[in-house]
Amino acid sequence: MGRITVVTSGKGGTGKSTVTSGLCTALARQGKKVLIMDCDTGMRGVDLLLGINSELVFDISDVVNGNCNILNAIYPCKSISGLYVLASPLNEQNKISPSVFSQIVRALSKFYDYIFIDCPAGIGAGFKTSISGADSAVVVANAEPLSLRCGSKVRELLNNSNINNIRLVINRFSKSAFKKLKVFSDLDDVIDEVGIRLLGIVPEDFKAVSLAQRGLPISGKIPAAKAFDNIALRYIKDYPCN
Ligand SMILES: Nc1ncnc2c1ncn2[C@@H]1O[C@H](COP(=O)(O)OP(=O)(O)OP(=O)(O)O)[C@@H](O)[C@H]1O
Ligand SMILES: [Mg+2]
Repeated sequence: MGRITVVTSGKGGTGKSTVTSGLCTALARQGKKVLIMDCDTGMRGVDLLLGINSELVFDISDVVNGNCNILNAIYPCKSISGLYVLASPLNEQNKISPSVFSQIVRALSKFYDYIFIDCPAGIGAGFKTSISGADSAVVVANAEPLSLRCGSKVRELLNNSNINNIRLVINRFSKSAFKKLKVFSDLDDVIDEVGIRLLGIVPEDFKAVSLAQRGLPISGKIPAAKAFDNIALRYIKDYPCN
C-alpha cells in the first residue's frame, strides 16, 4: 500500500497545487511511482501545471458514473516518467462523496508508491472528501499570521479525523519580505505558531511559476526546484515505500 497524502491549507492560494506538482515531480524523479488526485472539483489546476490539460478526456466522475474504466481516467505525464494524474471534474455539480472517494483512493494505493491529493481551499465538503482516504497530510502555509492560523485550524481538523502524520511546507518564502513584515522574529516562531513539524521551505520563485504556468516541470537550477528535490528526499526518508 502506498502512502496517501492530502495537501491542504485551509486558506486559499497558499500554493497547494504548485507544491503538489513540484513535490510529486521531484518524487517521480527519484524513481517513485506517484499519482496525483486533483480533488478541487470545478476549479482543478494540476493538469494545467503539468501540461496535460489538452490530453484529458475523463476525470474521476466518469469513473464513478461508469463512463470509463479507472485505467482510462489516469493520465501519465509524458515529460515526467513515473508521474500520473487523476483529474477532478470541471463541472462542480459532479462532486464525489467522501466514502466513494476514499474507496477509490485506497484501491489505487496498491499500485503507487505515493498518492497525493490536491485539496481545494477551505474546510467544507471538498476538504472532507480530500482527507477521506488520507493517512498523512502536508499543510502548505505562507509565513504570515492568517495563513498560519488557517494551517493550525486544519491541523486540528486533521487530528480529529485521526490523521496525525502531518508535515508543514512554508511556501513563497522571501527572507527580505519576512524581515520587513516584522511579525515573527525567526522561522522557529512561524513553526511554533502553526504547530506542525517542518518538512521544508519553498522560496518565492518567479521562474518556477513561469515554468508551471506554461505546463512545464519545475526543474533545473532554480531555487524552488532545489527545494522540491530536498523536500522529496526528506519525504522518502520520513515515509519510506513499503
Ligand atoms: N513558490 C512560489 N513562488 C512564487 N509564486 C508561487 C509559488 N507557489 C505558488 N505561487 C503562485 O501562487 C498562486 C497560488 O498558487 P496555487 O494555485 O498553487 O495555490 P493553491 O493553494 O493551490 O490555490 P487554491 O486554494 O486556489 O487551490 C499562483 O499564482 C502561483 O503561481
Ligand atoms: Mg489549488
